[in-house]
Amino acid sequence: MQEDFQKLKQTAERDFRKVQTLEELEALKVKFLGRNSFLAQFSKKIPLLEPSLRPQAGRLLNEAKSFITALWQERKKELNLQQDKIDLSFPSYSLRRAKLHPLTLVIREICSIFERIGFEIQEGREIEDEWHNFTALNIPLEHPSRDAFDTFYLNIPSKRYKYLLRSHTSPSQIRLMRKRKPPLAFVVPGRVYRPDNMDASHSFMFHQIEGFAVDKDINFSHLKGVLAYFVQNLFSSEVKLRFRPHFFPFTEPSAEVDISCFICKGKGCSVCKKSGWLEILGCGMIHPEVLSSCGISPKKYQGFAFGMGVERITMLKYRINDIRLFFENDLRFLEQFYEV
Ligand code: DAH
Repeated sequence: MQEDFQKLKQTAERDFRKVQTLEELEALKVKFLGRNSFLAQFSKKIPLLEPSLRPQAGRLLNEAKSFITALWQERKKELNLQQDKIDLSFPSYSLRRAKLHPLTLVIREICSIFERIGFEIQEGREIEDEWHNFTALNIPLEHPSRDAFDTFYLNIPSKRYKYLLRSHTSPSQIRLMRKRKPPLAFVVPGRVYRPDNMDASHSFMFHQIEGFAVDKDINFSHLKGVLAYFVQNLFSSEVKLRFRPHFFPFTEPSAEVDISCFICKGKGCSVCKKSGWLEILGCGMIHPEVLSSCGISPKKYQGFAFGMGVERITMLKYRINDIRLFFENDLRFLEQFYEV
């Protein structure tokens, strides 16, 4: 009997050494300690033995059980450790870092330039109504921009308003002037929509940044100073500005602003079409009618406003020649811009 147990322990020791996986180990445990194991069978037979032999048999049985259980536990610990082991020399996956979309980069850069001189950044709404998008901005009823060829009208039933996708960010001026009291200085970036056919320089959705300030004694030279600070920070400190008289219904006087071409330094190149100048935004002094429709007295307050197209500025800054590249999500294009 003693010999049988000795053998059993030896086989168990050898077998437990050999196993390499946790599954094999569990199978061995069943073999040596399970219901059909030699030990289980043996314990059933003890009561049938002669009484004088029973104590020794019991001792042998218990001793073998704890011996094998210890073998099992020890091997389990070893296999678990092996499984959790980390190979520090193993090459890791290379993580592809996200980059910001070029339009996001430029919007952030422009906003931060204006923030440095006290402008607050706000976002307007993309679904607007006719009153905010046109009427309050002094755009007459017969103006062609109100036409369905130039504005996306929405089929939202309402007795009060015709709803539309805003065709410019200027209605945000109206909302902010009606909500806040002067002094005001805001910059509003956002998407705008116009039913244009897509080509290298047109898209039915694009981005604008609107800016405006209202206070007592605001005049055109404040506008010039703010815009000079802006373009010199965005492009280069050597850039010159040129204000060309223009017309916008919501500003009087109005101007379009050109910057000296920062690529050829004004000598004339293909980007500025040999003129030496690049048009970058529209601006002017807020029309008294516009102030009035926002409940601000034009006798007490004046303001300036400006609006620019983000795609155009981004195309100039990064020398991109097709607006469609911004919206096609081709990684070969998008990956060329700065990391976060
Ligand atoms: N809203 C004009 C457009 O979409 C841009 C613009 C021009 C905005 C002059 C202004 C401004 O605030 O003063 O073409």
